[in-house]
Amino acid sequence: MAERSSFVVVANRLPVDEVTTPDGERQWRTSPGGLVTALHPVLTEHGGTWIGWAGGTGEAPDPFELEGIRIHPVPLSAEELERYYEGQSNATIWPLYHDAVETPVYKRRWRETYRLVNQRFAEAAAKVADDGATVWVQDYQLQLVPAMLRELRPDLKIGFFLHIPFPPIELFMQMPFRAEVLRGLLGSDLVGFQQRLAAQNFVRLARHLLGLRYEGQSIQVDGRKVKAGAFPISIDTKEMERLAADPKVQARAKEIRAELGDPKTIILGVDRLDYTKGIELRLKAFRELLADGKLKVGDAVMVQVATPSRERVEHYQTLRVKVEREVGRINGEFGRVGVPAVHYLHQSYSKQELAAMYVAADVMMVTPLRDGMNLVAKEYVACRADTGGALVLSEFAGAATELRQSFLCNPHDPDGVKDALLRAVGTEPAELKRRMRVMQRHLRTHDVAQWAQTFLEALEVAAEGREPAPQST
Ligand code: ADP
Ligand code: F6P
Repeated sequence: MAERSSFVVVANRLPVDEVTTPDGERQWRTSPGGLVTALHPVLTEHGGTWIGWAGGTGEAPDPFELEGIRIHPVPLSAEELERYYEGQSNATIWPLYHDAVETPVYKRRWRETYRLVNQRFAEAAAKVADDGATVWVQDYQLQLVPAMLRELRPDLKIGFFLHIPFPPIELFMQMPFRAEVLRGLLGSDLVGFQQRLAAQNFVRLARHLLGLRYEGQSIQVDGRKVKAGAFPISIDTKEMERLAADPKVQARAKEIRAELGDPKTIILGVDRLDYTKGIELRLKAFRELLADGKLKVGDAVMVQVATPSRERVEHYQTLRVKVEREVGRINGEFGRVGVPAVHYLHQSYSKQELAAMYVAADVMMVTPLRDGMNLVAKEYVACRADTGGALVLSEFAGAATELRQSFLCNPHDPDGVKDALLRAVGTEPAELKRRMRVMQRHLRTHDVAQWAQTFLEALEVAAEGREPAPQST
């Protein structure tokens, strides 16, 4: 019988991925992305079980302990990986929920597998959750899990958090199995979003699509109340500040500056290589400023870290070609021998190395066309101690609601992006420090522990409101 927990997190990803090295050895590696960055410190503090996919295909490894967390891997076959993860999750739902900035692809067989895999995650949660336990389901890959789990275990408190944007009604309505997805989410006691507007979209959608009644943020479903709300996610601010202050990280930051030729301005981008992140438009803005003579190679250098992501999905393959072509074009036109204009790094890094890059960078460019939150923006701010530095931030990132002292821009307007970058480069250090301090103060009180606590308290309250449910057997 599986070990049972009173706190269970269900996410597509585990905090670690099992990878096979070129010499055939199997190793665990930190998983990519904001969800793991945010949830790892929460689980380390609370303890409990983390259910998720281990990154490979075939049989799942046995459950094991990692830093006080019980890790419970869920298996995916090669076909499920293709249909549930690459297909339905990342070629249908991901683009649709990000304002359809790439065209969503709809396939019936992907939906069927999504259903099947969601059922497997729900069954795993039903097995490991203690009587009356709190189960926190995460993100767009698992939207059917709350209803499936409620069916199996009505005694549980079920929360759901969506890490990515929730689309307006007219976009959501494109999805062929839209009512099923909505009913899936409504299996929760509390559905959390990054933004207030997203929570409002959800509540209105429940009435529009299923004719459900709502009052404020509370929807009536089958005699139960389902609450919706905004819970903007954050980072482990203290840990990031500690990392940035570490003498080894500081020394590495100096080394990075020297390796880049000690330019006046280092402009940094750090993203998964994803078409929502606006990497191309940021490169184009930099190229045009070089062409206009407003920035000069040698004085200014751009470093773009693009973490490999979802590499078998076509949209991502096309993006990689476009980004690499643009980098080649800029370096071909403006670079000199030994002095490239753009350093492009298609690699993953340790937290220490990323922190050193943040410490070294004068300007951080975060220009997504649409992003649920964007933790990179928050990490940069937390790393800047008293040194100033400028954050150029898209208005379409969730982080823009909180980081108001950044240099905000509309990523759809190339001149607006160029203007924000130039303003960031040209602003007086005293003003940059002032802006940074205000944003840092905000992040110290609005960190990931506060996010989790606020959500879990709201979940307790939401679950208290419903009828006492029968105990599981
Ligand atoms: P998303 O969840 O869409 O990937 P976020 O900006 O919210 O975007 O989160 C990205 C997370 O991944 C951050 O914590 C960031 O530090 C981390 N990260 C990004 N690029 C790299 C990289 N090349 N190596 C290691 N970690 C990375
Ligand atoms: O934060 C959004 C998100 O899709 C997470 O759900 C995910 O863990 C992360 O980005 C990285 O994506 P993936 O798990 O597909 O590599």
